[in-house]
Formats: sequence, structure tokens, C-alpha cells
Amino acid sequence: MDFNAPATANPSDRMRVIGQPLDRVDGPLKVSGRAHYSYEYHEEAPNAAYGWLVGAEIGKGKIAGIDTAAAEAAPGVLLVLTHRNAPAQGKDSDYAAPQLQGTEVLHHGQAVAFVVAESLEQARAAARLVKVDYAAEPGRYDLAQERSRAVAPEPGMVKPETRAGDFDAGFAAAPVQLDVTYTTPDQSHAMMEPHASTAVWEGDELTLYTSHQILHWAAEGVAATLQMPPEKLRVVSRYIGGGFGSKLVVYGDAVLSALAARQLRRPVKVALTRQQIFNHTTHRPATIQRLRIGADAEGRIAAIAHESWSGDQESGGTAEGAASQTRLLYAGKDRLTRHRLATLDLPFAGAMRAPGEAVGLLALECAMDELAEKLGMDPVELRIRNDVAYNPEEGPSKPYSTRKLVECLREGARRFGWDARNPRPAQVRDGRWLVGLGVAAAVRPNPVMDSGARLHLDGQGRLTVETQMTDIGTGSYTILAQVAAEMLGLEVGAVTVKLGDTRFPQASGSGGSWGANSSGAGVYAAAMKLRGIVAQRAGFNDEAVFEDGTVRSGQRSLTLAEVAGEAGLSAEAEITFGDFSKQYEQAGFGAHFCEVRVDVETAEIRIRRMLSVAAAGRVLNPKTARSQCLGGMTMGIGAALMEEAVVDKRHGLFINHDLAEYQVPVHADIPHMDVVFLEEEDDKSSPIKAKGIGELGICGVGAAVANAVYNATGVRIRDYPLTLDKLL
Ligand code: MOS
Repeated sequence: MDFNAPATANPSDRMRVIGQPLDRVDGPLKVSGRAHYSYEYHEEAPNAAYGWLVGAEIGKGKIAGIDTAAAEAAPGVLLVLTHRNAPAQGKDSDYAAPQLQGTEVLHHGQAVAFVVAESLEQARAAARLVKVDYAAEPGRYDLAQERSRAVAPEPGMVKPETRAGDFDAGFAAAPVQLDVTYTTPDQSHAMMEPHASTAVWEGDELTLYTSHQILHWAAEGVAATLQMPPEKLRVVSRYIGGGFGSKLVVYGDAVLSALAARQLRRPVKVALTRQQIFNHTTHRPATIQRLRIGADAEGRIAAIAHESWSGDQESGGTAEGAASQTRLLYAGKDRLTRHRLATLDLPFAGAMRAPGEAVGLLALECAMDELAEKLGMDPVELRIRNDVAYNPEEGPSKPYSTRKLVECLREGARRFGWDARNPRPAQVRDGRWLVGLGVAAAVRPNPVMDSGARLHLDGQGRLTVETQMTDIGTGSYTILAQVAAEMLGLEVGAVTVKLGDTRFPQASGSGGSWGANSSGAGVYAAAMKLRGIVAQRAGFNDEAVFEDGTVRSGQRSLTLAEVAGEAGLSAEAEITFGDFSKQYEQAGFGAHFCEVRVDVETAEIRIRRMLSVAAAGRVLNPKTARSQCLGGMTMGIGAALMEEAVVDKRHGLFINHDLAEYQVPVHADIPHMDVVFLEEEDDKSSPIKAKGIGELGICGVGAAVANAVYNATGVRIRDYPLTLDKLL
């Protein structure tokens, strides 16, 4: 089904099941241990052997020699793979991930050996006996130092540069000017479930249970790496303990378990340790961001420039698109955004929740706070004054499908008691605490992806949904059950959703916040088709009404079970998004409000309360959507106050590579949080009129925290995270 015109009234509008705050349908399975994650397929992987990845202990250089004799002789060891005996692998795909292909070490934690044994403990013990001699070379590990050699990244997801008007002239002529530079550190996804895989071969067919967000990307990567026909590969990822972007591509666990299992003719499973994840897989790269904003005395932005520098490996590197949101958020005639990529010999950088915007807004939204202060203007009003109904780079020909930024700001200000804020910093004391309020705006584009689904209505009137879509903890199982139930006039309890298997129709997967809307629209498309088949079988015309497990037309009514009959009825369809939705700028918007207190003696920062107001299309399930926002707020607090993967600049690794040393917020760090969704339906987004919310939830949060810290203390820190040593 091609989505090529604004969505008109359709069965999803009834909002009988859609829009209900239902509990997760997979919740009981998860809390009772019956939801199996990729490492837990015991019956499907009988007699599995255990793999242990050995990571490089230098940041750059060569393997000069490798001695595996002691490891091979260790108890229980079945196989030790190194570059000397690993099979040649392919790399004819962006998602390919060949392992152990030579002596060159590109980054710390790169696989240099893989040990397989009868037990996990034996594999781990033997891995310690693998002796590797390295010829280390000097590496480039410092973004600030490499910044001057940075170049324009290859055009792709991140645009190297955009311009409108004449920034230099507009900025020079502006009566009020701001020129500030912010830095953000490397960050780790820190999802709960590690990267893990269980590989099971039957003849020349591989079933790979692996923790992954987008199965057709995983399948493409594994098939290309193993140089096997795609139809011989099945990838299964039914339950996933979080991803945040770290599971968009495959890593050593997937490839090495498959290679070893093929060689040993026996299932092999491997889970990366938390320490391995930090350096073997991926991270959000550090950024340096310069912002220049020129405005008139009334706060109207005339000129705005956002330049960002980040680093990645020399070949195949991607830039953090930290200036991306600055193309979208505020008005202004003269504009410039620029991304530059430096070569660093650190582990490969990658997408992490709202890649680009999450850290771009940490800079932009604090710069707006600085500008408001220069102007003597309220920061909420400054943002409202610079609202724009269209893409400000492209002009009125590219209108927003919907944009409720102003409403989010006003509603949030009213609910939060923004009026009570003292605009002069460091004025409000409560005992030993300084108290401050901060605000930030949020924007996150709403991409859409083609997505398929298959429905089967059985003779008992039960409906099964099958799609490759994944649930990374976001609630896909639940919202897809809601969409299917709504469309066929069923109770949610009559719907079974099956996800995460390449045997099902290809789907959007979970990435870029497109999952819920796109895969929901895929289920919508299949449901429309099934409705047509049911109506035709019943002898009804297009006016058939689906309600309470029946289909009726005029005076006649049949149960779905009757119509489906013994054999049942099936329908498969795909939603495709062509050029239509690209005619509109599509994004979710929000506003964050934060109150902090800062200890006058120790500079300890505590968050007192937070409010997020969001407008992001139809909310399919307010409970799971709210959870996305609470998670985003929590992660935003982490980005503002604690998260930093510290680079050891001598050896080129992230040194605080576990959750004891890489600080993320815990319950005691999280205050009272409120989330409000504004009513919105986006008929340009998809037939189900929803939008993404997962990444919008983190966008801007950290800046609201930082602005509150400034309001409390009068100290402006432009170097994230805002640790207390920087405040004193
Ligand atoms: Mo997202 S960073 O595409 O999981």
C-alpha cells in the first residue's frame, strides 16, 4: 500500500483500542523469565559451546605474533580462532563485519582471537592464555588535537554543510551577537542487555539468535560477511534488552559465533561483557560545537551558524550530526551549518539515541539561553518569537506537517510555574541550596520506513500478526496488537503479535524513531487487505463494519470466526512511503522544564522536578509513550550531569568501561517527573497519523538541566558533563 496522499478518515481513527494506556502484552513473559533473549535459546541450541572474544590491547598497530598453544591445550577448549586460521570473509555491504582478517589493529577491543570451549568459564580462562605480541604505533586519540585536520564527511545521513542567505554578512550586521563553543564527551549506550548471539547450523543453513534492532540489516551484514546465500540465513531477535543504536549493526559476537559453530558443527553462543562492549562495539563520539547567533534587539534571529567537529576511523567513519536540528528549529534568514570529521583511532563511532540532535541540542539550547540573557528576554519568549512554520532553510515551500513547539512551550511554562523564575541567576536560596529553573526546546525529525506485516485470522476468531519488527523494550508488541485489534474490531486479548524473525515480512525495525509509526502503518496496510478479504468472503461490500469480533453490513452480521472458517484467512501487505511524505518537513516537538538545586559548599547538583511536554502525532499508547519520555529524560540527565566515556589518550581506549565507572543516573538521581502529550494527529506522517517519540524524549533534556544549573548558580559550563569540579 503506497502512502501517497494525506490520510483520510479510516478505521484506526476510532481510537477504541489505539490510544489506551494498556500494559505491555509481553510484560508477564519478561518478569517471569519466559521471554528468551538471544543468549537464552537452550532448547534450540542443544549442547552449545561457549565463545569468548579476545580484544586487542593496543589502540593502533599490528599483531607481531600470537601464541595460542597454551589456550588450545587448556581444559575444555574446542577451538581458538585467530587471523591465522579464521576463514576469509566478505565486506560487500555497509553492514558487513569481517573479523580476524589480518594483523592490523584499527582500535582497542577489536577481536584478535576467539576461544570456544565446553563451558563459559573454560573459554574465559583459556582466553587469558592467548599470548599476543603487538607492534604498537602512535594513534590519534584526541579530538581537540585532530580538529584542525578535520574534513567534510562523505554525504549521507549527515549533510556536510548547508547554507541559506549570507551568514557572515547577517551576523556582522546583527546588533546582538553570541559566539560560543560547547563540547560533549564520548558516550556509551549502556543498554541493559549486552550484545549476544547464539548460532545454530543445520547443514548449510544458519539460524542466528542475536540481539539486534533491524533484522534485515543484520541479515544483510551476516550474509555478506559469511558469504552465504541470504535465503540460507534466518535471524531471530524476539526480545531485546535495549539498543539505543548500539544494535543497528553486527559485531564480533554475531560473526564469530556463526563461524565457530559452522566449523565445530555444534551451536556456539557468546555474550560480550560490559567491558568488551565499550571498546569492541560502538559509542556516540565526542563533539566540539561552535554556535554563532545574531539577533535584533527584540530577539528575532537574523543569522545562525552551527559548526560541529567529531572524530571516527579513517575508513567508513561517520560524523555526529550535531548541527542537524539547527537547520530546523528556529527562524532566521542567514544560515550556516557544517559538520567536520577528524580521523581518530578510537573504536568506531555510531548512532546513539537521537544521533546528532541529542548532543546538538545540548549546545544550541544552552546558546539560546545565553542569547536570552544577553537580550534581557525570557528564554521561553525568545524561542516563541523565533518559531517558524516551515523548514527555515528551504522556505515556505517546505511546510511542517504539524508543529506545536509554541504550544509545548506555553503549556509547559504554565504547568511548571515558569512565571516564578527569577531571571537573575544565583538569587534563590533554600538553606544550603541554590535553586534554579531551566527550559529547552526539543525537535526530532520523523523519518518513515517501508514496513510489511502478515496477518492470519483463524477459525476461533483469533488474529496473529507476524512482522520482522523488533521490540527493544519500547512496546512494539503492545502497540502493534492495539493497531491490529482496532482495525479488525477485536479485543487486544484476541491478538497475538510475533516479532523479530526474518521468516516474517520485512519491516522498518527499531531505529531513528521510525519504528512505531512505520511498523504500525505496515500492520494497518495488512489489516486493510484482510478486511477486504473478510468482507468479500462474507459477501459484503466496502461498507462492512468490524466490531466486537463480528463483521456486519446492513442487517447482516457474521462473527469473524465464522467467516474465517477452519482454514482461516491471511493477508500480507507492506506500507511504502514514496515522495509524498517528503514534501513536508516532519518532526516531533517538545519543551522541557527543570528545577535544580545546587549545594553552595560542594556544588552537588540535585534535580528537584522535571516536566516534558511533547507533540508527536497520535499517541498509540500513552503508557508506553510516557515510558519512552521518562527514559529519555533520565538519559538526558545522564548526558547533562554524569555520562562520559573517558579516552585514555596514551593507549586509545575508553578507560571507564563498565557501569561502575561510566556513570548513568540511578533511581536516587531521578526526581519527580511529569510528561504531557498535546493532542495531535499527523495525516502526512502515515495512515495511523502517529510519529516517533523514542528519540524526541531525550532531545533538549540535558540543556534544560544545564540552563537550570546556570540559573541557580550563575556559572555557565560549556563542557559537558556538568560535574561539580567544573562548578566550583
Ligand atoms: Mo537509533 S540511534 O536509530 O537506535
